[in-house]
Amino acid sequence: MSIRSRIAGIGMYVPQNIFTNNDLARYMDTSDEWITERTGIKERRYADRTGETTTTMGVEAAKIAIERAGITAQDIDFIVFATLSPDYYFPGCGVLLQRAMQMKEVGALDVRNQCSGFVYALSVADQFIKSGMYKNVLVVGAEKHSFGLDFSTRGRNVAVIFGDGAGAVVLQPTEKENQGILSTHLHSDGASAEILAMYNPGTHANHWVKEAKLADFDDAEIGEMFFSHAMIDKAQTYPFMDGKSVFKVAVEKFPEVIKESLDANNLQTTDINLLIPHQANLRISQFVQKKLQLRDDQVFNNIQKYGNTTAASIPIALCEAWEQGRVKEGDLVCLAAFGSGFTWASALLRW
Ligand code: UT7
Repeated sequence: MSIRSRIAGIGMYVPQNIFTNNDLARYMDTSDEWITERTGIKERRYADRTGETTTTMGVEAAKIAIERAGITAQDIDFIVFATLSPDYYFPGCGVLLQRAMQMKEVGALDVRNQCSGFVYALSVADQFIKSGMYKNVLVVGAEKHSFGLDFSTRGRNVAVIFGDGAGAVVLQPTEKENQGILSTHLHSDGASAEILAMYNPGTHANHWVKEAKLADFDDAEIGEMFFSHAMIDKAQTYPFMDGKSVFKVAVEKFPEVIKESLDANNLQTTDINLLIPHQANLRISQFVQKKLQLRDDQVFNNIQKYGNTTAASIPIALCEAWEQGRVKEGDLVCLAAFGSGFTWASALLRW
């Protein structure tokens, strides 16, 4: 009998502070109408500026996941932490969580895969469980975007999309027939790495940016230093996104990687009980739903309330779906993500 890994406990945490589209319109030239129409987002949560970090939010989600798995933090034997907004440039959030939760001296791995970070992290954890190396692996996706966004009109195409939050799962082995993670599928194509990226601070020395021919980055000083006044003056320490180009590839790769997971298990779209797409944009989820001819009850979206929380979006959505009774034992659940890199991924699991 082969071992599979299953989600034994799931938790989520979102900050108290709700920021509506109208709240954003106080800082930049935008409107509730524009944001709702283009993204479906109505509000998002922002972490307490000094009291909460990516790690502290991850800890809150992890506490719930661990409790629901019926274990304690002392039982965790490996941590995988996915984020693009770490507390420090280094070390990663995994060790900060290990310290905050007073865990044993277990391994802690940080995953830097942006929007597909959680599915990548889950896949890594799945391999450790299947190989028999670990019994309780904690997988966390958390983001504190609000600290690193340009809230002026200049940054509006990015700032309105992102929100803060965290989700976590505990993976454990199962030998039950037809339960657990059936397969995971991971992809990347670095050809468009610069169209959704935060370049600075970094060691690129303008090398890739010049090759990508992004007009904004022709200043000699920018990129030739790890961090400079010019970067700050020119607002080049914020994320850059060519939204239209990202959208086009996303709506192609999401259905592709979902189909790949179904094909690998001889299943059809009609077999899916719930698809949890990374909450990038409600329009993208709707496009994917239409392309795969899925009914409304087969797709879960909560971007309306939280915005795009990147590595946290899938575990937050999965947790809410589970809490609402939308995921029951035996259900076929598909997780799918696409984002910066580009990287994209899916996981098919039987709850
Ligand atoms: O999870 C990470 C992966 N990221 C994504 O999946 C993002 C995918 N892309 C998108 O979701 C969409 O491209 C956006 C929602 C980001 C933008 O929608 P769009 O329809 O592609 O708009 P656009 O960027 O082409 O901008 C259209 C217009 C522009 O004005 P002009 O040049 O037509 O006068 C923008 O300046 O809308 C303007 N605009 C805004 N107006 C009001 C851009 N952002 C805003 C804003 N409020 N927040």
